[in-house]
Amino acid sequence: MTHAYINPRYQTTKETSAFIPSDEEQFETYEAGHIVDLLMNSDHHNPLFRAPVGEDAQHILDIGTGAGHWAIDVADRFPRTLVRGVDIFPPPVNWTPPNCILEVDDVLQEWTWSQPFDLIHLRIMEASFTPEELDRLYQQCYQKIRPGGWIEQVELTIDLFCDDDSLPKDSAASRWGEINRKAAEKCGRPCDLFATLEKRIQEAGFVDIHVQDQKWPIGPWPRDKLLKEAGLVNLQHWLLGVEGYSMFHLTNYGDPVPWTRAEVIVHNAKLRSELKNPHYHIYNKSKRVWAQKPSDDSQNLSNTARRADQS
Ligand SMILES: C[S@@+](CC[C@H](N)C(=O)[O-])C[C@H]1O[C@@H](n2cnc3c(N)ncnc32)[C@H](O)[C@@H]1O
Repeated sequence: MTHAYINPRYQTTKETSAFIPSDEEQFETYEAGHIVDLLMNSDHHNPLFRAPVGEDAQHILDIGTGAGHWAIDVADRFPRTLVRGVDIFPPPVNWTPPNCILEVDDVLQEWTWSQPFDLIHLRIMEASFTPEELDRLYQQCYQKIRPGGWIEQVELTIDLFCDDDSLPKDSAASRWGEINRKAAEKCGRPCDLFATLEKRIQEAGFVDIHVQDQKWPIGPWPRDKLLKEAGLVNLQHWLLGVEGYSMFHLTNYGDPVPWTRAEVIVHNAKLRSELKNPHYHIYNKSKRVWAQKPSDDSQNLSNTARRADQS
């Protein structure tokens, strides 16, 4: 795959939020990320979400739906449920199942949906909101979920990890997380959601909090067949995504001064060649949190975070 740099398209209802472009490469990135998520959860009956929400659910919302992959798959699986996906970018889809609606809207504005949701889902929303906006968003979710309904969110680290020292400490991959975290922080939308997710959800009032931690391999280096397959797709996810996720931040807020586009392109080319190196056993972490809005009879539920499926 070649990565000729084309000026990214930032098309949105809200200019300040557009740190990610809305071009084909970005939407392909989302598709690859969605497939990795499905593969990494393929041992579960329902790989799309873990909250105990069944076929009798009436309304499900996917916030920051991107290209709508998750919302469309959930609508296919739950034909009697109305699944909404909302994003500030228009999703590039011509067809959705009849029970799926993809809407262009800013979730930081007052919500106009009147029906309570059985489940609200979010995935990969790191660096999209200020801390205050996040607090407001979770409060809004809490208000709009029916009593006994669920919230579920999946986040990935921007940091790259390696457990066997095969990745050199001075590599672009080792420094990628720190470089981008600094820029996001300067921009005012920090990359701290992965680290603070359970706490934020708990502070919004949700209880019965469950946490699943995973390591998502990057590249086909694992021996395990499923992880090898997931690693291959996750490699594409990263190869496709690095430009979109870094260009705005580094050219506007790069350290110590904003980088030129050429500097970002050169740096990303180095990163990509490291990601493709089969001798480097690189992975990112993922965290899935699901939690319930208390119902009248849920007073005994614990709001202590539980760790599940350590891998
Ligand atoms: C990294 S993408 C994740 C896409 C999708 N959730 C997935 O996993 O494939 C984050 C998405 O959040 C959307 N987003 C950011 N701020 C938003 C807002 N205020 N309202 C609605 N969507 C927003 C972005 O446009 C982008 O599509």
